Amino acid sequence: MTDSLFSVQDRIVLVSGGSRGIGRALAKGLAERGARVMISGRDAATLQQTAHEISTGPHLVEFVVCDVAQPDEIVAMVDTVIKKYGRIDSLMNVAGINIRKRAEDYSVEEFDKIIDINLKGAFLVAQQVGRRLIAQRTGGTIINIDSLNSFRPLKAVQPYAMSKAAISAMTRGLAMEWGEHGIRVNAIAPGFILTDLTQKLWSNPTMQAWNDANCPMKRLGQPEDLIGAAIFLVSDASKFLTGQVIYVDGGITCGMQWPIPLT
Ligand code: NAI
Repeated sequence: MTDSLFSVQDRIVLVSGGSRGIGRALAKGLAERGARVMISGRDAATLQQTAHEISTGPHLVEFVVCDVAQPDEIVAMVDTVIKKYGRIDSLMNVAGINIRKRAEDYSVEEFDKIIDINLKGAFLVAQQVGRRLIAQRTGGTIINIDSLNSFRPLKAVQPYAMSKAAISAMTRGLAMEWGEHGIRVNAIAPGFILTDLTQKLWSNPTMQAWNDANCPMKRLGQPEDLIGAAIFLVSDASKFLTGQVIYVDGGITCGMQWPIPLT
């Protein structure tokens, strides 16, 4: 049985940072359920390959090249979506990077790079899509990819954690501003998800054991674990929900674990 409440059928969805990892999984999950999906990223060949591989639903997944650190490319990306489909309904604002270092060791260039992509880029993508949605008078949904770091930052990822805390603030702020246009803005804050971004970190058995001790679900997340929340937020199932950050993290932000067995 399919439930129309959760339908994403024929929704026009742009996934920024859709070439791999979480963006790829979300694009595939939505496309398999009938959404018309365009993925974006920096490299045409990778995007073409991904679009081909995830076109397992009723519609072909399309792609458009866009570096979200380049404001002109963001305008062109959203233009491409409108040219192709005539409108846009949803944005999955996924593109992001991280550089792990002690706070005292970041260069200005490293700080700027993270903020330009994770924060300025995410805002400018949301702004372009928001402008279109307001002009269309159709309403729509914007889903920003936040992080568990916005709630309680880990050590040695300060610019990243700051950028994601700002994504939480942006989610609430845009929800306030655009609610009157029927635009809902929410965020998914993933916990520890196995992707290219985190593969090296989690290949260390000490890290695996630390996660399994602290995560109530006793495992790392897979990108596919986020699809359910994305469908919920894109669909009418969440039609009175806006400005919220949903932590999809196996419960790891719920509390602290005792380091010794309980008697
Ligand atoms: P990933 O490195 O596998 O994928 C990142 C995606 O963003 C790629 O498609 C990449 O091409 C794209 N991207 C990077 N810089 C870009 C730019 N300048 N312009 C356009 N696209 C760009 O990483 P992953 O793990 O899939 O991360 C996706 C999002 O999820 C990021 O925003 C990340 O901060 C967030 N996240 C990831 C977690 C994890 O444990 N993997 C946990 C919490 C949040």
